[in-house]
Amino acid sequence: MNKTKERTLIILKPDAVHRGIVGEVLDRFEQKGIRPVGMKMIKMSDLLLDKHYVQHKGKHFLPHLKKFMKSLPVVLIVLEGLDVIRVVRTMCGSTDGKNAPPGTIRGDYSMSTSATIIHSSEDQKAAKREIGIFFKKNELFSYTRPDIHFYYAEDEV
Ligand code: PPS
Repeated sequence: MNKTKERTLIILKPDAVHRGIVGEVLDRFEQKGIRPVGMKMIKMSDLLLDKHYVQHKGKHFLPHLKKFMKSLPVVLIVLEGLDVIRVVRTMCGSTDGKNAPPGTIRGDYSMSTSATIIHSSEDQKAAKREIGIFFKKNELFSYTRPDIHFYYAEDEV
């Protein structure tokens, strides 16, 4: 486990916006003791998507994925907490909602590999790169919650 404070990017995809579950999904992270430190709604462009999905360049699903990601606005959120990159990915579940375990976001809300409700950064390098694409430094905030020690107990947050 990584005991240092980390930040990760989640994108609540067009299906989350369309289905009106943005608040429900964010609530899961807040209930877990993971705090949002930056948030915005945008309409994705080809330029942003080509930067964000650079590692998928040439993959057969990219045109479909880009079309889907441009279909409605998305909500971008930077989340902060201990070991948050790994924890958030675990909470999201595997890409294909049909295989994701119940209790995970995709396991509870998705039956698809493209309409998967949420994107989350894969590792520290990806998180830094992805946050940099969508957020300026002054759009990210540092604060703590007064109840945070009940979540993390002995660990420093
Ligand atoms: S890979 O190849 O293992 O990196 O792919 P994976 O991590 O499973 O998925 C990467 C992102 O591609 C989306 N995806 C698709 N979109 C549309 N159609 C198809 N068939 C498809 N397969 C995968 C998937 O939802 C992932 O999106 P993000 O936004 O990164 O979660």
